[in-house]
Amino acid sequence: MDQLTLSNGVSIPKMGMGTWYMGENPSKADEEIKSLRLGVELGITLIDTAEMYGDGASETLVGQAIAPLSRQELFLVSKVYPFHAGRRDIFRCCENTLRRLGTEYLDLYLLHWRGSIPLEETVECMQQLVQSGKIRMWGVSNFDTRDMQQLWKVPGGQNCVVNQVLYHLGSRGIEYDLLPWMRDHRVTAMGYCPLAQNGSLRRGLLGSPSVLQLSARHKISPTQLLLAFALQQPGLIPIPKASSCVHQRLNAAVADLTLTPQEMAILSQDFPAPTRKMPLDIV
Ligand SMILES: NC(=O)c1ccc[n+]([C@@H]2O[C@H](COP(=O)([O-])OP(=O)(O)OC[C@H]3O[C@@H](n4cnc5c(N)ncnc54)[C@H](OP(=O)(O)O)[C@@H]3O)[C@@H](O)[C@H]2O)c1
Repeated sequence: MDQLTLSNGVSIPKMGMGTWYMGENPSKADEEIKSLRLGVELGITLIDTAEMYGDGASETLVGQAIAPLSRQELFLVSKVYPFHAGRRDIFRCCENTLRRLGTEYLDLYLLHWRGSIPLEETVECMQQLVQSGKIRMWGVSNFDTRDMQQLWKVPGGQNCVVNQVLYHLGSRGIEYDLLPWMRDHRVTAMGYCPLAQNGSLRRGLLGSPSVLQLSARHKISPTQLLLAFALQQPGLIPIPKASSCVHQRLNAAVADLTLTPQEMAILSQDFPAPTRKMPLDIV
C-alpha cells in the first residue's frame, strides 16, 4: 500500500478501512473480524472507528480483530463525540476507546464533528493527550472551510493533521474550496463514504453510463470504479467499509489502479467538479 506523508512527517496508508455498523450484530462478528484481518494482510493497515459506532461495539470488534496483530503495523483512528470533546469527558472517553481497542495509544484521534464546546478547549485537551502519549496526533471531521479557518486561529490549532469529510464521485463539493485550502495548509483529507453507501444516489451513480463504461474497460465492478475515482484525488485517503472478505478483496484490488486524465474527464461529464461553493455534505 502506498503511503502519504502528513504535515508532521508521519507516514499514513493511502487507503483505510471504515467500520461503521460493524460489531452491532453478533451473528456477523466472525466475518467482520475476518474481513478486517484480511484487509490488514492485503496492506490496508489503517482502521477508522469511533466511540459513536454501536456505542463502542465497533471499537470492541476492532479490538478483537487486531488482538493477534502487531500494533506497530497498524494505524488506528478513532473519534470523540463533540459533546465529549472537553476537559470534563475527553480523557475518560479516550481511555474507554483505548480499552475497547485493547491498545495503549491511538495513532489519530478526531473530533467527530463540531459541537458547542469551544475549539480552544478541545485543542488544549488534544494537545494534552498527545503529551501523555495516549494519542500520536489529532484531527477533525466534518469541518468546512470556515471551520478550518477558525481552527487555524486557535492556539495549537495548526497541529491538526487530518480533516475527515464525505467524498465520492457523486459528491465532489469539497474540490471547490475545502480541498485547496487543506492542501495550502498541509491538512490531509480522509474521505468517508467513498462508495456512496447505499440509497438512491448510489443507484444513480452505479448505473450511470460513464461508470458502466469505465468499469467494463477495467474489468472491475461499478463500486470498485467509485473507489478508484476517490483514490485518484491527490492526497485524499478513502476509507471504504467492507464487512465481508469478498468486498474487502475487491476494494484492495483497486488500491493501485490508475485512471487516466481522459477517463477522469469522462466521469466529470456525468459528475462535474463543482464550479461554486457547495455546503459540506455530511451523513
Ligand atoms: N466522520 C464521519 O462523520 C463519518 C461518517 C460516515 C462514515 N465514516 C467512516 O467512513 C467509513 C466508510 O463510509 P460508509 O461505511 O458510510 O460507506 P462506504 O464505505 O461508502 O460504503 C459501505 C457500503 O458499501 C458496501 N461495500 C463495500 N465494499 C463493496 C464492494 N467492493 N462492492 C459492493 N459493495 C461494497 C458495504 O457493504 P458490506 O459492509 O456488506 O461489505 C457497505 O454497505 C465508515 O465505515 C466510517 O468508518 C465517517
